[in-house]
This record gives sequence, structure tokens and C-alpha cells, in this order.
Amino acid sequence: MARNYDCPVSEATSELSAPERREALKELLTQARGCTRCSELAATRKTVVFGAGNADADLMFVGEAPGASEDEQGLPFVGRAGKLLETLLGEIGLERSEVFITNVLMCRPPGNRDPLPLEIENCQEYLMRKVELIQPIVIGTLGNFSTKLLRGDPTGITRLHGQPEVITLGRRNVRLYPIYHPAAALYTPRMLDTLREDFRRIPELLALGPPGQPDPLESSAAEPAIEPPPPAETDDDPSLDQLGLF
Ligand code: URA
Repeated sequence: MARNYDCPVSEATSELSAPERREALKELLTQARGCTRCSELAATRKTVVFGAGNADADLMFVGEAPGASEDEQGLPFVGRAGKLLETLLGEIGLERSEVFITNVLMCRPPGNRDPLPLEIENCQEYLMRKVELIQPIVIGTLGNFSTKLLRGDPTGITRLHGQPEVITLGRRNVRLYPIYHPAAALYTPRMLDTLREDFRRIPELLALGPPGQPDPLESSAAEPAIEPPPPAETDDDPSLDQLGLF
């Protein structure tokens, strides 16, 4: 399935080195921290939960939205669902620090309500830019919100989980792998078994390597390049490294 987004990616993104992409990710983080696109979320959040992990990860996870613990700590998946995610990663020989974990929304919806369509739309540009900069081979979408968003289709996770497909995001093809949200498996043993089974396929998906990429000439003709966000003023902000986000 080809899913094309208006993605703030410059023509040169795919030619950037890993350190250059990491620097650009840090600029994006600085920008995100000041984001006020969703007035309610900006007024009620404690932190912007940008995402964390390896900025050059082959495997990226996209969850739904930060909860209370994530909002407190500024890091994704640090509560019970996060512990389960770490356990499942450990079972396939991966550590959290090797992958990049983020969410559809970077701010906690008050009372943990569902993300609103406008909030998803507002945050989508950031998510797409993260994908462009990290260049993962596999994106594991955790649950309905990220699966529906990245596939651009309302089909739910129950029908899709465990079925990888190659999709086009911006100018890159990635292997999308829908799986249940770990929070849903916390209290349902059968769902946990399924999640565990689906996790076991991740190493073989990673071993396939990146899918074939679109012809850069064709894709740039099809999609006009949108300028990346302007460079952050606080480029050398030491807190970016001290936080150990990526
Ligand atoms: N659930 C999510 O979807 N994301 C988090 O970061 C934590 C819980």
C-alpha cells in the first residue's frame, strides 16, 4: 500500500549521514518542546514526550499517546505497558536502547482520553519527520491509533496484527508491522500470547533489510518537497544530550 503524506522532508534527507540525521532529530525535539498546535494539550501537559531510543534504529515503535507517568518523566512507555514492551523486546534479544519508541501524540490527553482527530493531524508532521530522520526498516504500530494513521485506513488492529506490509511514508518505503498495544495485553492472557507470537516475527522482518526504495526522481516529481522545520535557535542545548533521549 502506498501511503503518501505531506511530510516536511527535504530532498537531501536520505543522503544525510547518521550523525547529521541525529542532529536534525535534536532540532526537531527542540521545536516540539515549544509546540502549541493543540491548545488544550499544550496547556495541560507537563512535558512533551517526543520519543526516545536509538536515533538510527532499524526498529521503531509507535504507540498512542503519553499517559500520566510518561507525562511526568518526558519519556514514552515508562509505565506498566512500557515494562511489558521491554520484556517482549528482551525475549527477542533486543534492548530498549536499540530501538526508537514514540507515539502518535507527543502530549498527554487530559484524563487519558482518546486522541482527537485534530490532535492526530497536528502531531502527524512531527511523527513523519521522525520516521524520515530515523529511517527504520520496520515500524511496529502498537494498537489502533498508529496502525490506522500510518496505513491511512480505518481497518482495525484485530484484523491486521501480525501481518507486515510495505508502505510508503513520505519518500521512504518501510515495513509496517501492526501489533496489539501492550496495554491491551496487560490484563488479557490470550492477547498477551498473541502479542508475544507477533513479536517473535520481528527479527525475521528486520533480517529482510530495508524494502526497495522509490525512485528518487519519480517520487520528487510526484510530491513537492516541503521544507524541513527551520533550525532551532538552541542548537547546542546541552540538556538534549543530558536527557539521554537518543
Ligand atoms: N501508552 C502509549 O500508547 N504510549 C505511551 O507512551 C505509554 C502508554
